Amino acid sequence: MRTDTGQLFRLEDYRPTDYLIPETELVFDLHPERTIVRATLVVQRREGVDISQPLILDGDELKLVSLSINGAPLGENGYQATPDRLEITDLPEENRFTLEIVTEINPTANRQLMGLYRSSGVYCTQCEAEGFRRITYFLDRPDVLSVYTVRIEASKQQAPVLLSNGNPVETGDLGPDRHFAVWHDPHPKPSYLFALVAGSLGSISDSFTTRSGRKVDLAIYVEHGKEARALYAMDALKRSMKWDEDAFGREYDLDVFNIVAVSDFNMGAMENKGLNVFNDKYVLADAETATDSDYAGIEAVIAHEYFHNWTGNRITCRDWFQLCLKEGLTVFRDHEFSADQRSRAVKRIAEVKTLKAHQFPEDTGPLAHPVRPRQYREINNFYTATVYEKGSEVVRMIRTILGPELFRKGMDLYFERHDGEAATIEDFIKAFEDAAGLELSQFALWYEQAGTPNLSVSFDYDAAEKTFAIEFEQSLKATPGQNRKKPMHVPIEFGLIGPDGREIVPVSADGMEVTGNVIHLRQRNETVRFTGIEERPVPSLLRGFSAPVTLASELPREDLIFLARHDGDPVGRWQALTKLLTGKLIAGVKRVRGGKAPLIGVDIVGLVGEIVADETLDPAFRALCLTLPGESDIAREMGSNIDPDAVLASRDALVKAIAVAHAKPFAMLYDALVNRGVFSPDAASAGRRALRNSLLDYLSVAEGNPSRAAAQYHASDNMTDRAAALGVLVHRFGGSESAAAALAAFEARFGGDPLVMDKWFSGQATRPGAAALDTVKDLMRHKLFSLDNPNRARALIGAFATANQTGFNRADGEAYRFFTETILKIDRENPQLAARLLTALRSWRSLEPVRREHARAALALIANADKLSTDVKDIVERTLG
Ligand code: PHE
Ligand code: ZN
Repeated sequence: MRTDTGQLFRLEDYRPTDYLIPETELVFDLHPERTIVRATLVVQRREGVDISQPLILDGDELKLVSLSINGAPLGENGYQATPDRLEITDLPEENRFTLEIVTEINPTANRQLMGLYRSSGVYCTQCEAEGFRRITYFLDRPDVLSVYTVRIEASKQQAPVLLSNGNPVETGDLGPDRHFAVWHDPHPKPSYLFALVAGSLGSISDSFTTRSGRKVDLAIYVEHGKEARALYAMDALKRSMKWDEDAFGREYDLDVFNIVAVSDFNMGAMENKGLNVFNDKYVLADAETATDSDYAGIEAVIAHEYFHNWTGNRITCRDWFQLCLKEGLTVFRDHEFSADQRSRAVKRIAEVKTLKAHQFPEDTGPLAHPVRPRQYREINNFYTATVYEKGSEVVRMIRTILGPELFRKGMDLYFERHDGEAATIEDFIKAFEDAAGLELSQFALWYEQAGTPNLSVSFDYDAAEKTFAIEFEQSLKATPGQNRKKPMHVPIEFGLIGPDGREIVPVSADGMEVTGNVIHLRQRNETVRFTGIEERPVPSLLRGFSAPVTLASELPREDLIFLARHDGDPVGRWQALTKLLTGKLIAGVKRVRGGKAPLIGVDIVGLVGEIVADETLDPAFRALCLTLPGESDIAREMGSNIDPDAVLASRDALVKAIAVAHAKPFAMLYDALVNRGVFSPDAASAGRRALRNSLLDYLSVAEGNPSRAAAQYHASDNMTDRAAALGVLVHRFGGSESAAAALAAFEARFGGDPLVMDKWFSGQATRPGAAALDTVKDLMRHKLFSLDNPNRARALIGAFATANQTGFNRADGEAYRFFTETILKIDRENPQLAARLLTALRSWRSLEPVRREHARAALALIANADKLSTDVKDIVERTLG
């Protein structure tokens, strides 16, 4: 493990390299513990660079075997090599020369899953962000683009499948035991997009013909026996390829496209050129083993990685500060894809929920950073919800401001200008400015200023003048390193609704810029005045969640109820309902803390029942409305002095009130929604299951016993219904015989499949209450559990720390102490994973004082431990900072 170097990287220090590497030839002689890599690099000295400038290459835990230039071995005085750096001073005079570097690496010992490693016996690579330097010495940075030719030699028996980027060139025999394959990728690419896979794998294949008639061979490689579980991913891939042609005019550019699923992977998946490597969680699915949300996740991630071929690969990032250039944009593209494949409104609400759950707490906590950070100590810690999710929201706002046509024109211009280049956010913004003839410098603050802006809004209707005024005030709190903020350009989609529920179109608007249904807020304080408004309207603001802001509006409760019933924008309806529910839940928390029972009014209970019963609405939308804000949503909205036990009590009380009030119609609807016919993962069927499974939870609460959930568990023919029933049994009736029986049945059925067992681990880790800690400790000793496997660690430790508010935040602080020890253990093997899990403590300051002190002490234990990785040290210091 590399321990902290204390180095800080700054955007303003960016400088191009003195040398380029236009061509890279790699020969891998693969052996489990002793792999030899011969890199032959064509090195080019940039014009104007003096010959005295050394060539300094990055490395990480490398062992140098030999070094030569233009075929002649280099003398010992000509270079200096350490495991993490190679400096060559004895360079030839000509500006172009060939450098040959031979290194030795040990894939089996590589437990941090960066560089070349083995996962269940399969050799695979992960190079983003700085993993290539663990394979050979290189200019391992995204602005150095090279054309790669790769030759892989390996055991025929251990590795019948040999894959790399680009197109296959040649395969052949090397005697009785070994064979080779050669791959060539004609598209220059940065080293982080390099990939190699070698192993014994099953596969499925298909093909796609692009719109210009190029036939592309597609294949997905998985563990033997799991081929059928890759069919949905293949279908999603073909739909993605078609969609990128239709929606963005982007065609695929190689003869083959390969995907490999591996079981040890730090992230979701990786967009290596022509050879995407996936966490198997985002490839494998069938009715028996995957839930509807697994299917949706696979569709989204397959699309995301495929879309990177243009946004990320053909146009890459100049440096890692520009990470959102590829990630925010590609998330935006995969969101649009899923919205087109499914229900747009439901998809949008799901996005808003995710953004608020993961990005908003980042923005208000100690790890807050701009969408484009200006400094980092460890780039691995910046693959965040801010860079990805908020980065996508920023692109979405550009489209809202420009409109779909100009947005597309801007994207086309961006592709045209920067294809084959390593670009910056400035380049991206410029393309839209030029395409639209607009100036976006104020808008660009969205990339620079961290934090979630808050809009305070008040309204004034003048019946005599027939005008309706909306007054805005925007504010943005200080974040680490940014004390003073400037006002931003916030596009606010809106509608005015008349008493009859119909949209009112104002005669005119003055005081602010209004284009169509968008108000452009640009100053700290601004007022827009609509004229020709015959009756007092109900305003619906931030329709479609048009900007990642919080809204503090003084809209009366009756208006919120009106919007929850009548807003023509489903996102607006859901936002109004959520606001009402959250207010009720927070009031309940306060009463519980004062030793009283929460008060629950009939209107809100009735409203939920009304929406759930409304057959004109999409079941998926009704399911979203029936699912109350979660415990962490409530905590986030409260902001400080959180007592998770009181939050849970308040939420449970509202669930119970709704359940009891509507037990009869809910039971009828539950029966009516039963699955008929064969399982299909399509959005409509998934929506019906989501509604039915949400009803199951309420009905079980109303009935006060586990029989309904137990019956559903044992009758289910698909994982969505089975997992939902298991959740109700374990979370509502944990410790009961029915819960134990279902857990045993699940283990008996899926005990051979660790990926499926992750649901079993998470389900138990998230059972509310203090007892979960002992369960988690027991499960760590389960034969399928291993802290080394990222999916296992996330399913048990990650789920416990992020999705079990009462269990993790036990008042005695025991869970924090356990968590601390576990993080330190993981850090010894896999720093990236440890650091990511540790972010679960980022909101520690918002806890009530007793828990806050326990959390602080646990963090201090980590901070004071010796031999911390750069990754964990960076997170812990910023979290405490
Ligand atoms: N670039 C990957 C994606 O967003 C994520 C990733 C980052 C994977 C770093 C591995 C390592 O699709
Ligand atoms: Zn990505």
